Amino acid sequence: MTKYIEELKGVEPFATTAMDHQWLPFTPNRDFLQDPRMFAGARGLYYYGPDGKAILDGSSGLFTTPAGHGRVEIADAVRNQILELDFTSSFLRSHEKSFTVASRLAQLLPRGLDTLFFVSSGSEAIDTAMKLALAYHRARGEASRALFVSRERSFHGVNVGGSMLGGIANNRRSFQASGVPVVHMRHTYTADRFIPGQPKTGVDLADDLLRFVELYGAENIAACFVEPIAGSTGVLVPPVGYLDRLRDICTQYGILLVFDEVICGFGRTGKPFAAQSFGVTPDMITMAKAITNGNIPMGAVAIDRGIHATMMDRAAQHAIEFFHGYTWSGHPVACAAALATLDIYQSENLFTRAEELSGYFLKGAFGLAEVRGVSDVRGYGMLAGVDIDPAIVGMNGYELQKRLYDHGLHIKTTGNTAILAPPFIVEKKDLDFIVDTIRAVLTGTA
Ligand SMILES: Cc1ncc(COP(=O)(O)O)c(C=O)c1O
Repeated sequence: MTKYIEELKGVEPFATTAMDHQWLPFTPNRDFLQDPRMFAGARGLYYYGPDGKAILDGSSGLFTTPAGHGRVEIADAVRNQILELDFTSSFLRSHEKSFTVASRLAQLLPRGLDTLFFVSSGSEAIDTAMKLALAYHRARGEASRALFVSRERSFHGVNVGGSMLGGIANNRRSFQASGVPVVHMRHTYTADRFIPGQPKTGVDLADDLLRFVELYGAENIAACFVEPIAGSTGVLVPPVGYLDRLRDICTQYGILLVFDEVICGFGRTGKPFAAQSFGVTPDMITMAKAITNGNIPMGAVAIDRGIHATMMDRAAQHAIEFFHGYTWSGHPVACAAALATLDIYQSENLFTRAEELSGYFLKGAFGLAEVRGVSDVRGYGMLAGVDIDPAIVGMNGYELQKRLYDHGLHIKTTGNTAILAPPFIVEKKDLDFIVDTIRAVLTGTA
């Protein structure tokens, strides 16, 4: 060991500038470092670059910040909480605000989905829901239910379980050998283009789940995971009746239905949760991102009362009912941020505002259909995906987001799709700016 340390003393550090030491996630790092686009501040609807340039946030951060940036109420709550109770583990201890957040969320959630398990991210919420599904079936004496059903083009985070559920090829390729058993239904992107709202065709795609029941046996299937609107892949809105059909099949065959609402949750579809927008109640909902307006990492799994009751009833009185949890589960500072955020959503009626603005927003987004090289637009609520054809517009999605930044607009792109998810505090003129800037950059008139 001493020899190793002595040897190291003679070695030049390989990194020479401050920028050389960080490996950025989901980023072509070497390209980024050539010409980094950074943020130095944020307030309201805007990010600010290091040179002070204002950049309108057209993606609510990363679907995280619908109430806008730099909210004083959340900052105060976080500061006060650190000084009052900065940390407690949730193992064998707890604190009042975690129970308050749970009951506030229970009021927003569909009836019956009112037990909350706290985590720190969407990925953790997904893996928690997977483990809960396995443990629940085992507790009921159906331990053979170990197979998961997911969907092509889905994104369920980056932990091992969620990576295997995920159906975006690039996110799976390097990690294939994980051993989590998952089968994928077809995605719901049909041949129809430029359909606002829910496509009228495609309900039959839900019958893929029935085929898995026939092929693998319902007694071997634990749960079916879907994003109500597949977000990260570029906004695929569920066909009319599709989620209802999944619900029916799951109910008939004892399969748990899990909605991953990490993007859809907290008003993005115009209701607190997409489950309410589409009128379908799953057995669990995963959430994260906007739960604290993106200010402090936090996530949760909302669990059906019956699942919770089963897990409680089947365990001995002093036994731990679910052998799972994170150091940061129910972190006091995250809970304080969540409460301040929920207060803002309520006092400013932001979910209703999202619902009311949706028509204008979608009309603007679908107006991009007339731009040469825009090959499809999809959207629902305050979420829209705009596909571009790089051969026609002369840039791919990655290049598009760079140029938009340079023209004062932050948009998340995925492949060749721009994903628009404005904060709910936008005005109509801001929505016009988003659409006009995209149009100008795509047509080369910016
Ligand atoms: C639907 C969905 N599930 C899970 C995740 C993972 O969340 P996180 O990045 O907080 O782990 C995401 C992230 O974008 C997501 O969109």
